[in-house]
Amino acid sequence: MILTSARLTLRPFRAEDARVLADYRSDPDVARYQGWEAPFPVEAAASVIAEMTDPAEPGWFQHAVDFDGTVVGDVGVGLHENRMQAEIGFTLATAHQGHGYATEAVQRMLRHLFVERGLHRVSAECDARNVRSAKLLRRLGFRQEGHRVEHTWIKSEWTDDLLFGLLTKEFRA
Ligand SMILES: CC(C)(COP(=O)(O)OP(=O)(O)OC[C@H]1O[C@@H](n2cnc3c(N)ncnc32)[C@H](O)[C@@H]1OP(=O)(O)O)[C@@H](O)C(=O)NCCC(=O)NCCS
Repeated sequence: MILTSARLTLRPFRAEDARVLADYRSDPDVARYQGWEAPFPVEAAASVIAEMTDPAEPGWFQHAVDFDGTVVGDVGVGLHENRMQAEIGFTLATAHQGHGYATEAVQRMLRHLFVERGLHRVSAECDARNVRSAKLLRRLGFRQEGHRVEHTWIKSEWTDDLLFGLLTKEFRA
């Protein structure tokens, strides 16, 4: 599955993308509020890529965000078993932040999920300290639906989660 927007292509990762995926996941600033630890070995990146099968099937699928032949990050979609709702996540390499690429890529993916695939709802969550992530979600029209206090034990600390949601009727409006 390949999606295009004004500047970007969202496409499946290829085996040869393992190095770049490992590199940006190994950046402590990128990994700070994510579930993986930095450094992120290239072998682990290769496994992430090899394990992804079909974006139309329930489960997580990471789409590479390609700008002019360079993988600048990814948009992950976790399709629910009911195939009518999904979670979304996003990551950009530090060097490619601040250009609107994540907003553009997630917006394109939302259009795909809501308009082209007919999903009803997309959810997202982030660490409450992840200001740029929360800002991106609000910019795209996500509604904050919750703030779970010290709900997640990760990287040796309890963290707060912000919960967000967006319905198809809200996206289309
Ligand atoms: C979350 C994350 C993807 C946000 O990245 P980002 O660069 O802020 O988001 P965008 O790519 O959409 O860029 C938006 C910024 O680019 C600016 N920008 C510059 N040129 C632009 C253009 N042509 N179009 C749109 N925006 C542009 C915007 O003004 C905005 O800056 P601001 O927030 O200072 O106002 C990034 O911080 C990240 O990867 N973090 C690490 C991984 C992570 O925590 N992911 C979220 C897990 S829940």
